[in-house]
This record gives sequence, C-alpha cells and structure tokens, in this order.
Amino acid sequence: MLMKIAFGFFVVISSTHQTFTEKVHDGSLNKQLEKCPPMLVKGRVQRAAGCDLVFITPDRTDHYLLPSSYTAANLDACLNNSVLAANLTELGNLAFNKDQLFVIKRKLGEIYPRGLPQEEIKKLGIILTVYTIDDISQWNITDPDVLAEAVQNTGSAAMTIALQSHYLKELGVLDATALNVIDGPMLCTASEEKLETISRTELRKVKPIDISACSQAKKGIIFGIAKHAFQHHTANRQTYYNMMKPYLGGATAADLRILAISRINMDYETFVRLNPAEVEKLSAQRLRGLLGRNLNYLKENESQEIVQHWVDSHTAAEVMSLGIGLRKGESSAELGTFPFQDLLIPDYALNNLASVKNNNLLSSTYIAVMGIILQYV
Ligand SMILES: *[C@@H]1O[C@H](CO)[C@@H](O)[C@H](O)[C@H]1NC(C)=O
Ligand SMILES: *[C@@H]1O[C@H](CO)[C@@H](O)[C@H](O)[C@H]1NC(C)=O
Ligand SMILES: *[C@@H]1O[C@H](CO)[C@@H](O)[C@H](O)[C@H]1NC(C)=O
Ligand SMILES: *[C@@H]1O[C@H](CO)[C@@H](O)[C@H](O)[C@H]1NC(C)=O
Repeated sequence: MLMKIAFGFFVVISSTHQTFTEKVHDGSLNKQLEKCPPMLVKGRVQRAAGCDLVFITPDRTDHYLLPSSYTAANLDACLNNSVLAANLTELGNLAFNKDQLFVIKRKLGEIYPRGLPQEEIKKLGIILTVYTIDDISQWNITDPDVLAEAVQNTGSAAMTIALQSHYLKELGVLDATALNVIDGPMLCTASEEKLETISRTELRKVKPIDISACSQAKKGIIFGIAKHAFQHHTANRQTYYNMMKPYLGGATAADLRILAISRINMDYETFVRLNPAEVEKLSAQRLRGLLGRNLNYLKENESQEIVQHWVDSHTAAEVMSLGIGLRKGESSAELGTFPFQDLLIPDYALNNLASVKNNNLLSSTYIAVMGIILQYV
C-alpha cells in the first residue's frame, strides 16, 4: 500500500515535470494543443491527481491527435481504465508509439489480470505489437476471426507462428478463415484428429494448402477430404486434377491409377511430391498414363529418390518398356544380391556394432547401418 502511494506520487511528480519541460522545449506540442483547444487543453475547473491535460473521454478516443498530444506519462494519468475498456477498438487504431502502447498494455493487464478475452484481442489493432510470445501463450483463441485479425495485426513472423501454433493446440476450428491464415507447414503440426475435423465445404473455399511438410498419414487425411470436396468435378478431368494437385501427396496407388486412366499429363513437380511407396506399385503402363507427355522427366531426373524407388521395384524389362532410355542401372541391379560381408561399413559404425551386446539390438543396428549405406550407394 505504502509502495503504491509512493509510486503514485512519483508518477505525478515526473509527469508534471515532463509536461513542463515539453512545454518549454517543444513548441510543436503547444501548437497542436492550440489547434484543438476545447478538446485537449485542461480546463481550470478540472483538477484530478496526475492528469495535466484533460481526461480522455469516450467520445475523444478516436482523435488522431491523441498520440502526439499525450506523452506516455500523460496517457497513463489521463486515460481511465473504464474508457480504455469501452473504447479499445478506437484506441487500437491510433498511431501510438511503443512507450504509449506499453502504458495501454499495462492498463489492459489491470483490467484483465487473467489474460485478454478473445473479443478484446480482436480489437487490439496496433496495441498487439507490444505483446510477446509469452503473453500469447496465455490467450485462448478458438475463434478463427480473432486468429485472422491477430495475425494481420502482428508485424512479426515469430508472433505469427506463435499465434498459429497456439491456435492449433487450442480448440480452434479449422474452417476456411483459419486455414487461409495458417501456413501449410504449420498446419502439418496439428494432430491427425484435428485435421480430420476439416470439412469438405471449408476446404473447397481455401487457397491451396501446401501439405509437403506433413507426415504421410496427415497427407492421407487431407487428401481424403479433398477427394470428397472436389468429387463433383471428376467429369472434367483437367479441372479435377488442378484442384487435387496440392493434395496428391496423400494419394494411394488406386487413386493414381484412376488419374493415369484420365490422361492428365501430371507435371513433374507434382509427381515428385507423390508418395514413393504408392508410385512404386504402378506398372510401367500406368506410369506412362500418369505422366503422359511429361514422361521424359523421369529420365532427366533418374537419380531422384522417387524414380529410383520405382526402378528398383520393377524388372529391367519393365523399366525399359517405358521407352525413354531409363534403365535399371548396374548399381541398383547388383544391390538386390549384394553380399553383406562385402559392404564397406564405416569404422564408426563397426565400433558401435562391437559395443552392442544385445542380439536384437545388434541386428536392428545392423539394419539401420544398412539403411544408411543403401542411401549412399
Ligand atoms: C477518470 O477518473 C478520474 C478520477 O477518478 C475522474 O475524475 C475522471 O472524470 C475520469 N475520466 C473519465 C473520462 O472517465
Ligand atoms: C466509446 O465507447 C462508447 C461506449 O461504447 C461509445 O458510445 C462511443 O461512441 C465510443 N467512442 C468513439 C469515439 O467511438
Ligand atoms: C484459458 O483457458 C484456460 C483453461 O481452460 C483457463 O484456465 C484460462 O482462464 C483461460 N484464459 C482466458 C484469458 O480466458
Ligand atoms: C527434373 O529435371 C529437369 C531437367 O534436368 C530439371 O530442370 C528439373 O528441375 C528436375 N525436376 C526436379 C523436380 O528436380
């Protein structure tokens, strides 16, 4: 209590002092005040502790001169919490500087000690820029409009990420508004259960989502929703393909066979994002059907994993039957019958092997080492 009084006293002294110096040194402030005398210059009758200018009344909270007329200390003394609470939208639209914004943030903390409610977050405007990632973690944003508003108001990429990831952990709905605000890679961090809640109606309304960072299971979920969302376009193959394109990483071999029959001439960029484990189930004929006039890219990019996968899981004759000069290379042909003892196992791996006593662990380590070697062959 004593502390509080002492502090209050200090604020009074310092704000008076500041205004005084400003009045001496800053002619522009005086000019500004002269421009709107009835509004901002303190009347003789009004004399409340601390506020040297006039108290900011609700009807003045949208005045564009407030930021230049009230220093942070003035604002602290002349803006009542009740007015701030009632006119947050108006104040959030004014060009306050950081010091002034910190004063407003502190006052909001007094009004909402347990964190800002969603409806208020939506009104913050420029005030949002002085909130930290820690502050955000105490908010419960479940309304997609609040998320969209907050993401739009924060200037920082880190804050955007924090808002998005926080939203995904809370009970926020994944409707079109939210999906348009949450970047693909961030969306991939949502749980599978959460992704399953995306409705086809909402997916139809959003800009294409980049699912390349998602796990295969999550790609499958989003693909499944897209398949239903765009099924009414199947009559026009090209339109259907264009709409499904962003989501084909989740397609199964059966889905790909249907596309192959539709002769959609899949572009190579889309092809490399398919699931190699599904592509490898396609026959040469289907692969040709799928890529159509883009088939030659397979040869040009033959060292890529997805091409290698397919080649490795088909016979030399079938690979040749593509007719683009792609061959089962010597190294990949030999791999199938490579004797283990002839493999060059790096020293560090051998040392690890030697120190492993447990047999099961030994064999799984061996398999892991094999995996590493296979990747480098
Ligand atoms: C703000 O609070 C002070 C002190 O309680 C009061 O005198 C003043 O009228 C209030 N101003 C507004 C605009 O509510
Ligand atoms: C401030 O809020 C009050 C109460 O909601 C409202 O009547 C008033 O119009 C607001 N002021 C401005 C400038 O919009
Ligand atoms: C956010 O939710 C948690 C848990 O439901 C609750 O304890 C907390 O008070 C909420 N915070 C706000 C600002 O609503
Ligand atoms: C495939 O090969 C072509 C020609 O070499 C190259 O331009 C293209 O970038 C490659 N595609 C991918 C996805 O790497």
